Amino acid sequence: MNAPVTNPIAPALEPLTLIKEPDLGTPERVSEKLVTLEIDGVAVTVPQGTSVMRAAAEIGFSIPKLCATDSLEPFGSCRLCLVEIEGRRGTPASCTTPAEPGMKVKTQTPKLAKLRRNVMELYISDHPLDCLTCAANGDCELQDMAGVVGLREVRYGYEGDNHLDAVKDESNPYFTFDPAKCIVCSRCVRACEEVQGTFALTIDGRGFASHVAASQDEDFLSSECVSCGACVQACPTATLIEKSVIEAGQPEHSVVTTCAYCGVGCSFKAEMRGTEVVRMMPYKDGGANHGHSCVKGRFAWGYATHKDRITKPMIRAKITDPWQEVSWEEAINHAASEFKRIQDQYGRGSVGGITSSRCTNEETYLVQKLVRAAFGNNNVDTCARVCHSPTGYGLGTTLGTSAGTQTFDSVMDADVMLVMGANPTDAHPVFGSRMKKRLRQGARLIVIDPRRIDLVKDAHIEADYHLALKPGTNVAMVTALAHVIATEGLINEAYVKERCEPEDFALWRAFVSEERHSPEATEAVTGVPAADVRAAARLYATGGNAAIYYGLGVTEHSQGSTTVIGIANLAMATGNIGRMGVGVNPLRGQNNVQGACDMGSFPHEFSGYRHVSNDAVRESFEALWGVKLESEPGLRIPNMLDAAMDGSFKGIYIQGEDIAQSDPDIKHVTGGLEAMECVVVQDLFLNETANFAHVFLPGTTFLEKDGTFTNAERRINLVRKATPPVPGYADWEVTMLLSNALGFKMDYKHPSEIMDEIAAMTPTFKNVSFKKIDEMGSVQWPCNDAAPDGTPIMHIGKFVRGKGRFVLTEYVATDEKSTAKFPLLLTTGRILSQYNVGAQTRRTENVAWHDEDVLEIHPHDAEQRGIHDDDIVSIISRAGETALKAVITDRVQPGVVYTTFHHFGSGVNVVTTDFSDWATNCPEYKVTAVEVRATNLPSEWQLKYAKLRDDNRQIAGKTAAE
Ligand code: SF4
Ligand code: SF4
Ligand code: SF4
Ligand code: FES
Repeated sequence: MNAPVTNPIAPALEPLTLIKEPDLGTPERVSEKLVTLEIDGVAVTVPQGTSVMRAAAEIGFSIPKLCATDSLEPFGSCRLCLVEIEGRRGTPASCTTPAEPGMKVKTQTPKLAKLRRNVMELYISDHPLDCLTCAANGDCELQDMAGVVGLREVRYGYEGDNHLDAVKDESNPYFTFDPAKCIVCSRCVRACEEVQGTFALTIDGRGFASHVAASQDEDFLSSECVSCGACVQACPTATLIEKSVIEAGQPEHSVVTTCAYCGVGCSFKAEMRGTEVVRMMPYKDGGANHGHSCVKGRFAWGYATHKDRITKPMIRAKITDPWQEVSWEEAINHAASEFKRIQDQYGRGSVGGITSSRCTNEETYLVQKLVRAAFGNNNVDTCARVCHSPTGYGLGTTLGTSAGTQTFDSVMDADVMLVMGANPTDAHPVFGSRMKKRLRQGARLIVIDPRRIDLVKDAHIEADYHLALKPGTNVAMVTALAHVIATEGLINEAYVKERCEPEDFALWRAFVSEERHSPEATEAVTGVPAADVRAAARLYATGGNAAIYYGLGVTEHSQGSTTVIGIANLAMATGNIGRMGVGVNPLRGQNNVQGACDMGSFPHEFSGYRHVSNDAVRESFEALWGVKLESEPGLRIPNMLDAAMDGSFKGIYIQGEDIAQSDPDIKHVTGGLEAMECVVVQDLFLNETANFAHVFLPGTTFLEKDGTFTNAERRINLVRKATPPVPGYADWEVTMLLSNALGFKMDYKHPSEIMDEIAAMTPTFKNVSFKKIDEMGSVQWPCNDAAPDGTPIMHIGKFVRGKGRFVLTEYVATDEKSTAKFPLLLTTGRILSQYNVGAQTRRTENVAWHDEDVLEIHPHDAEQRGIHDDDIVSIISRAGETALKAVITDRVQPGVVYTTFHHFGSGVNVVTTDFSDWATNCPEYKVTAVEVRATNLPSEWQLKYAKLRDDNRQIAGKTAAE
């Protein structure tokens, strides 16, 4: 069983080329009114508002340009795009001149040619003449334009004042800024403003002294720059350029694929030299990102070739033994025989599997298929258990489907955004930028969050209301908002009458109208002034199109499902579901959380959210797979661990998840893992869970395989293989090998065949295929006969479940309360530069921004405890203790402390408890009662765990790379 020799690139993409997307100079305009004009004697019809430059480009005439690009509003500074227009004086800039009916434009005349050459001559006279050794050679618009305008000499010489000695800024780990090459076209400044919305750059000084300045003329790393790369992409010269291009040279082919980080699902061109990635360029045709990116997707791909990667299968008899490298055949056979032995000895239900929201749909589908068909039980769960399972329950119950209702583009039609328990600028940055753009256009904003996230106040935006509630009081808040809507006559009666179940609505209306749910009555619980809650509710209900975006700050609570229900109630009551600009939108954390849920990763559901007890559905799978399937739901992750501690659960196959770092109450998790007899971990690195593993199967990155990811807007994007799988097999092939060794035959030649099976078995995916996604660029499910090209907006006209169902949302305070012993409430979240457990981002230069998790504490709480900035502090809860560096800030309110969980040594999840959502078991990460004390020592757990970790990195006598 040797690794196959595979074609490194998906055959569909041959022959390999470097994809150059056209640049039409200025952005597209949408208008029902069309104008027809004549350009160089050729008639062209364009929507009103289109520039002359773009109109010309539409018919293939490219007018020379430098300061214009179609991702930015025209600026008109370089004067290279001059044209002549019949009946008009002078030579207007075509980028800033709108096309008008009957206009006659000339783009090429001797006069224009001379003017353009003069402009270029001035630029080149203050530009280094090092084209041959410049990293942008072959990909430089200045160089191109010199050729296009026919510049043959520079009459001014190079002796006068110039900028050629300007000093390079190398501070950013991923790109350089070489001001000597800058033509002050302002594209970078505009990209930072218009696309990214950070406003980190300005043109400082005047005339000859004008120059690009980051923040207060600081270096890029110290400035407000968040390293999204938009300015680098926009720069027409080598002034801003990726260090990877400087090192590797220009790429020679590209493969369009999908970011493997967050749930935005940005499309990228992996630009390659052979099998080496030179850079990741955001893809303009990407349905989710439209050519934008964040620091993770754009730059943080170096983990794929990091020295820590494990590339050979390994086994060991005991978790205290060093790892032995073995062949694939030996590892797979060993794992299979162990699972069989355990099932013979302890019963069919003694083993299970965990799928990953980081893996492709096809991989996830295969793991759940292996568990159901080869293990013969339903003990399969996914990491979505610990993030968005309440979304599934809450939206499924009220609306009838477990998914966000909108496209990301819909936000551009929103008049009011309500952002609850989400931090889009850090966790979903490309969508966060889009939100900011809409807010700058005048949309209103309500933020419900215990912490002052960036959206509350940022460059040129400010929330109308920040309801800084106490952690754990979300249900009281959504019900108070509903109270205002119901009692102040703000319900959209016509919508509710037409579209919702009347009896449930009547019960709900009476319930939320009770005085005990008023903002005044709940103020003591939420800590938010009643007047603010009333004003926010009025704005949401009456401000026009109102859209709700929420995240893990909603779901990861003991009443996570109830809050999701409350959110859906609010949207139904105000008629804000079923068109552009409105809706209920869970912002999914990891790249394929939506997909993992869709694929049937939960123990109670097959793909498409159909219960395992549904005879017809189960029988259809039985017929296809040729095995009898269980009709009872299997174990969830926490139940598997409990059963392991009890001695009835003995073996687990974990693909792409690190439950020993990401799941709550780590002592319980590690105890459960330690109690098992066969833990099989499939991952890129020896992660924390691998400390307890007996078999390690090396995994592959998104660059090494074909498949699909489904983002937070239900958009199915293709992941395309750009390099061969480093360990020899892609993850889906490994699952197949394991299944075959277990005696259940799987025989797929390509992941497209797995998708064909998913489509055949799942009504909402009926018309989905790799071919269709390839042709359309992406597809949003449901995609079936009723919606052959997919469904960007759900619940138009009627809800998926028929009538929308209002459900009561009784607030029950969490058992995790602050007390005299644990007086502070710890809540957790993410930071822009890191991702989840950090396994990938910690192995990139992103550590330049965040190299450790810190504890944010309010100045008042810090002073009471004698804590200063940068002190090491102990965080103690009922579950455990850890130690972190303190950062004193008023972003958190008194009584609340906050941290991230990206670094394994932080041990944040040693502190979090095993309380969980009543409906789904999603852990209550967001509320832990703690005490914080100054210390200068790591906790006992941290010391013990550091040793265990070191011991576990022994591979056949040698220490592993990390
Ligand atoms: S850095 Fe690039 S984009 Fe910015 S002003 Fe200079 S040349 Fe233009
Ligand atoms: S990388 Fe992004 S945030 Fe930084 S200056 Fe450029 S556009 Fe602005
Ligand atoms: S991490 Fe998210 S926002 Fe950033 S590039 Fe990837 S998908 Fe886009
Ligand atoms: S491209 Fe029109 S003025 Fe620069």
